[in-house]
Amino acid sequence: MKYIVVINNKGGVGKTTSAVNIAAWLAKFGPRVLLVDLDPSASASIHLGFDKKENKHRTICDFLIAQNRSLADYIYPAKMENLFVLPSEPALSEFYEEIQQEEDTEFFLDRRSFPNKYDIILFDSPPNMGTLALNALAIADYALVPVQTQYLAMSGLEVTNRTIAKAQRHLNPRLKILGYFGTHYDRRTNVAKEVYRLIQKQMGKKVFDTVIGVNSKLIEAYNAQEPILKYAPSARGSKEYRALSEEILKRIKL
Ligand SMILES: Nc1ncnc2c1ncn2[C@@H]1O[C@H](COP(=O)(O)OP(=O)(O)OP(=O)(O)O)[C@@H](O)[C@H]1O
Ligand SMILES: [Mg+2]
Repeated sequence: MKYIVVINNKGGVGKTTSAVNIAAWLAKFGPRVLLVDLDPSASASIHLGFDKKENKHRTICDFLIAQNRSLADYIYPAKMENLFVLPSEPALSEFYEEIQQEEDTEFFLDRRSFPNKYDIILFDSPPNMGTLALNALAIADYALVPVQTQYLAMSGLEVTNRTIAKAQRHLNPRLKILGYFGTHYDRRTNVAKEVYRLIQKQMGKKVFDTVIGVNSKLIEAYNAQEPILKYAPSARGSKEYRALSEEILKRIKL
């Protein structure tokens, strides 16, 4: 099993859109993929049809409340073969703070808590480097970093890189950077090209060849609560996430 956390300190860069659509494409290629939503905003869960306002499903918050050791009871099949989801909900943020105060550890995820039947476990994380993100960094094999190809992208990236480096030193020496990829790439603007060049210059070979362009079908797919490969398989956004997922599979060598 390979554990990958999609992470960037900055909000709105495309973490959730990427986590869901990469998970879906990876599952389509054959591996069994579990998407774990660690963001209390629960947008990855909603993207896959698990909106706590509409359904009675259990979430990672219920797992914490039950102090259960196994996550198996909180995992659901998504509407696609080989794709599974461990949903989140807004209550996670308050409840998580309570737990931290009551117990002397802020870490609640353990690799042994995950049923041994997935090939890839992909985490979506919140837009901050708080302890929920650290929980994923503490057990992950890889960090996967989406970078919005707009000005100020690099400043958010510094915080993200520093946190990953700290996690490598103090929490998880196994953690590696799987790579960086550009998102929201607007081919018509020079800004996007310049920022992308800057990312390549600073991160070198760690930058994936595939760049995710601006594509409104990705927003529509979110609203339809479906991965892009189901909602609009031939859309540019779908093809780009497919290409990126192929590159990811090559790098993780399952
Ligand atoms: N390639 C794209 N083209 C057009 N819109 C996109 C693209 N990627 C993401 N979006 C839209 O941009 C917004 C932010 O994307 P997303 O939620 O994936 O970012 P995020 O990093 O997870 O945000 P947060 O930090 O709030 O969790 C969403 O409305 C999403 O639908
Ligand atoms: Mg998100």
